[in-house]
Amino acid sequence: QLTLQLDKAQKAVSPTLYGMMTEEINFSYEGGLYAQILRDPSFREDVNGQRRNPWTPWHSGGPKYWLATDTLASQLTLTQKGGYNRANPAVLKWKAKAGASIANGGFWGVPIRAKEHYKGYVIAKTEKGSGTSFTLSLVSNDGKTVFASTKIDGLGENWQKKSFELTVPEKVKATKDARFVIIADNEGTYDLSKTVLFPETFNNRPNGLRKDLMEMMCRMKPKFLRFPGGNYLEGNDFRNRFDWKRTIGDPDERPGHMSPWGYRSTDGLGLLEFLEWAEDCGAEPILGVFAGYTLSGDHLTADYIDGFVQDALDEIEYVTGGPETKWGAQRVRDGHPQPFPLHYVEIGNEDFFDESGSYAGRYKKLYDAIKAKYPQLQLISTADQKMVEHWAQETGVTGLKFDVIDEHYYRSTGDMYAAANQYDKYDRKGPKIFCGEWAAREGKPTTNMNAALGDAAWMTGMERNADLLIGHCYAPLFVNVNKGGMQWESDLIGYDALNAYGSPSYYAQCMFAQNVGNRIVPMVDKDMPTMEYEGKKLPQLYYSATTDTQSGRTYLKVVNGGKTAQTLTVTVSGGKVAGKGTITTLKAAKPEDTNSIDNPKHVVPVTAKQKTGKTFKVVLAPLSVNVIKM
Ligand code: AHR
Repeated sequence: QLTLQLDKAQKAVSPTLYGMMTEEINFSYEGGLYAQILRDPSFREDVNGQRRNPWTPWHSGGPKYWLATDTLASQLTLTQKGGYNRANPAVLKWKAKAGASIANGGFWGVPIRAKEHYKGYVIAKTEKGSGTSFTLSLVSNDGKTVFASTKIDGLGENWQKKSFELTVPEKVKATKDARFVIIADNEGTYDLSKTVLFPETFNNRPNGLRKDLMEMMCRMKPKFLRFPGGNYLEGNDFRNRFDWKRTIGDPDERPGHMSPWGYRSTDGLGLLEFLEWAEDCGAEPILGVFAGYTLSGDHLTADYIDGFVQDALDEIEYVTGGPETKWGAQRVRDGHPQPFPLHYVEIGNEDFFDESGSYAGRYKKLYDAIKAKYPQLQLISTADQKMVEHWAQETGVTGLKFDVIDEHYYRSTGDMYAAANQYDKYDRKGPKIFCGEWAAREGKPTTNMNAALGDAAWMTGMERNADLLIGHCYAPLFVNVNKGGMQWESDLIGYDALNAYGSPSYYAQCMFAQNVGNRIVPMVDKDMPTMEYEGKKLPQLYYSATTDTQSGRTYLKVVNGGKTAQTLTVTVSGGKVAGKGTITTLKAAKPEDTNSIDNPKHVVPVTAKQKTGKTFKVVLAPLSVNVIKM
């Protein structure tokens, strides 16, 4: 039995409760959200001529587009200097006979869809006496179908950027078994420095993002986007941190860098693209600024981080500044006149790993400098207050202040159940909490129903404490499901070059974020059932309720982690609810049931009518996540 005390619903729900966290992991941007299709567009995955990958995305071929033949085999040489500019130093020198080709198979495929319109460009030059034109095509992997074809002409002895467009006709069956092919129309020696290919993008943004993934994220109703990491903020070393100034402006001027997750990022998805991504999803940024610590443990102590402090201030100015400011003006020049909203800035990432204790000094220096210029911002510490205070004592740092603490929890479903009341006990006089990474980790590459149950139980706890938590976000968000695409098991959204799907955890996220009020409804429970879970006695039901003072709607969320159905009697005290409501249920026959690229809708929520009112009964299916809307 559960009583919802509507008249006691006074505590406000944080307006940024549900959000998203992202970084370059699992081919999240390259081969993922960043819509650019070709892998290794500027031949930079090769370092000193030694390929880091066991395969190369660029192949030479003959007249049938993909088959190397003796007569038309090309001679390819890759060098890392002499290219188009400093950001694109590499050159693929291609000695070709007339009709020879090179091809790029994208990130495990090139997406072909009926009527899809592609835009791209090739940066190339030729040696004297060579031909001046290329034929560019999208071709099936078996070479039998040319989906679209065009020509670029006028190549010469200086670097030129030649744009092209391709359109796939109607009545073509969608496939990713295709590649992008460049044919040398005449014999010659050609230098290539960069080639890119984009399909249509979300909101038609140039250098934009994949439509299907953006639509899926919009359905999550995120109120913030935490970026750029995660480990991606820190990098394995200083050179490969997220150096935001090298990720803005003309994409051809961005050198790219190694992601700590083992592959190269072009930084085509850079700071402005992150901000526009947030904007396009109706979210605000939660901006992580580099704080002088890298994943190798290498760090600078506070005395030496002035340069990074200035970088952080400049970054905030780029996000929020007007056209009269240096970096605000840069953002305007980059194509976004309006400043972005910003309330939270995070200082580093997981600095609890820095056992040297240097975070106390680094945090204080960044905190003081940011607050002095932007007193309205709330700043997030990435190590727990006690820990930072302990380091402060050891390192002689004084005068620390804390607005918000970021906590990360990767747990089993059982541990999520056991921790569902964790925040009920937190001191309200201390700093606010941001749960900046969390997940119940069961299933791979994306999570299963059991994980969704653990997630949902944990989310009820966060929702009940939405006065303490400024927000929370699941991690990781994305995974490219191809072999080699996943570095971290248990992810929210899976995809290949053509299709995307949501895990049961994704649907639980959507259900929670789409149905939330602006006040927390206190609840009194009585005679609630328990269950045996992995040898522990745990509650079987987990719940939270919020109400919306504007619309008058009340949302009750109940998770049934047990294998038996439960009938719950709900009583509403101190307020009115209508007699007709709905119940949306996510359930599965077995805990390990899941969705996949081949079976994307096996576990999805279903909505039915539900009798509501002053007192009503609701049947909660076994292994189910439920949202009752009244
Ligand atoms: O989400 C994966 C990784 O987990 C993040 O990069 C890091 O912050 C955490 O350790």
